Amino acid sequence: MAEQLGNLARTHTCGALRPGDVGQQAVLLGWVHRVRDLGALVFIDVRDRHGITQVIVEGSEALLERAKRLRSEYVVGILGEVERRSPDTVNLNVPTGEVEVRAAEIRILNEAKTPPFSIAEDQNVSEETRLRYRYLDLRRPPLQRNIRLRHRITMAIRKYFDEQGFYEIETPILTKSTPEGARDFLVPSRVHPGEFYALPQSPQIFKQILMIAGFDRYVQIARCFRDEALRADRQLEFTQVDLEMSFATPPLVFEIVEGALAACFREIGVEIPRPFRRMPYAEAIARYGSDKPDLRFGLEIQDFGALFAGSPFGIFREAVAHGGTVRGFVIPGASGYSRREVDSLVEQAKQLGAAGLVWARHTADGVQCSVKAVGEDGTRRVLDQAGATPLDLLVMASGAPDAVSKVLGQLRLQVARQAKLIPDGRWELLWVTDFPLFDWNADEKRWDSVNHPFTAPREEDLPRLESDPGSVLAKAYDVILNGWELGGGSIRIHDRETQATVFRLLGLSDEDAKHRFGFFLESLEYGTPPHGGLALGLDRICALLAGESSIREVIPFPKTTQAVDLMCDAPSTVDPRQLRELSIKIQG
Ligand code: AMO
Repeated sequence: MAEQLGNLARTHTCGALRPGDVGQQAVLLGWVHRVRDLGALVFIDVRDRHGITQVIVEGSEALLERAKRLRSEYVVGILGEVERRSPDTVNLNVPTGEVEVRAAEIRILNEAKTPPFSIAEDQNVSEETRLRYRYLDLRRPPLQRNIRLRHRITMAIRKYFDEQGFYEIETPILTKSTPEGARDFLVPSRVHPGEFYALPQSPQIFKQILMIAGFDRYVQIARCFRDEALRADRQLEFTQVDLEMSFATPPLVFEIVEGALAACFREIGVEIPRPFRRMPYAEAIARYGSDKPDLRFGLEIQDFGALFAGSPFGIFREAVAHGGTVRGFVIPGASGYSRREVDSLVEQAKQLGAAGLVWARHTADGVQCSVKAVGEDGTRRVLDQAGATPLDLLVMASGAPDAVSKVLGQLRLQVARQAKLIPDGRWELLWVTDFPLFDWNADEKRWDSVNHPFTAPREEDLPRLESDPGSVLAKAYDVILNGWELGGGSIRIHDRETQATVFRLLGLSDEDAKHRFGFFLESLEYGTPPHGGLALGLDRICALLAGESSIREVIPFPKTTQAVDLMCDAPSTVDPRQLRELSIKIQG
């Protein structure tokens, strides 16, 4: 039977007591972490979010009987005197490890069923079980730490932006579609049958309207919703640190965002060097095969096109002759790879989309290439240009320049992980800039925005906006940490004409544009300041700073990769009456 808390008031948390408190009366309130029953003596570890304190029960039969009834995860109130532990039981690994509380009263505030996994032990529990019993999972120290860190980071961000003169302003959740490249979540309107609100993919349009409204600097810790495939760094609903500034230039946005990230890093005791490195998109693709390069390790992609222009090896020669190239990278220390290891690399490259992978290396008596036709001279030249030492293995592939770099970029990441070439504790931040404004959508024969349709073209490219859209670069930038896209933003279009042209290029008829964005186009006509901003993924920042490889570890109630909340079983069917009220009929 659960006992009442009554007027039992906590005097100390379970992480607070120190030798200086010896002799004091303490009241601890928390969960039974572990019980050790030694017969005439029982030790109870009592836990709360602050830590664990050892309680000793001895002497009184009635108290001992109570202590022996306790099981893991019971909720207890302990009243007793703080004592110094005997030297042989001192545990310097926990902050409270020099003291214990001698119980004078034990109140059992609630019992607990045996949990499906231990909170105390570091067990290998399936993610499904963890998410089904998330309230128990969240009690475990790693998740308690992560949620605490998330709180600290959120507070640091709020403080920082307040100091920089930003207003925190909320924008609607029930709204109109915002184009960020994913599917919308729709909410049916009961009052307007057949009409729908969309949940925001981001506050993009509203934050721009707040600049038109004269708020100058806006920030919001904003929940966003995107119906897209889930991965380790993606959830259906996630949180952005969304910001916008009037009269912004890219350097100003960089400075503000770098300051915000520096404030986040301080929460884990790291001072990050600023300004961050900058790299144009084209260079990131060519050298790392990715628009979010992981710069913690080398394995940089190099171009060998010129070397193979006259090569006896037909495939490489022909690729170069037809506008393609040959690219590759050096894997340090891999010259001794066995046949099986090398074959496995070739197989990985093929799975990533390469037609094949050619490798070359120095040997004890010369050089060796997987393709004989490359020849000894050819092999020697390419190994030289690549800077490969006798310890290294060079891998190469041919194809269209960007395509071959992208395949090699993925192989580069896999190799670095497999060969353990990624150092721990390293933080590599950079800005990727100068993205293309558009991507050609061959299926639908129109342009797509690489970023979103409100991104401004570079001024020098404006004259080619309609004549050669594919060559236009954007005033857009992403901030990358260790190969993760932490955030993205841009300077925005602030005149109606350019905005209308971009909508047309994206295949929106004037009528469509009016239906979807008429209010926004109209607002641009009432004195819109030049403006720009960015949104950071808060979940991603927290995951990386917590040393986690999935954002699910820093989100209290995440969905599975199957888009399900296992704890409350959402999504789920609803009462037919609710559907009727919403004028919704389920087909099939
Ligand atoms: P973007 O779409 O690049 O830009 O999003 C900004 C940042 O939000 C995070 N993010 C996500 N995190 C978890 N799960 C997701 N499904 C997810 N999608 C995005 C990423 C990403 O870098 N309105 C623009 C910003 C702007 O232009 O100011 C926008 O939303 O960390």
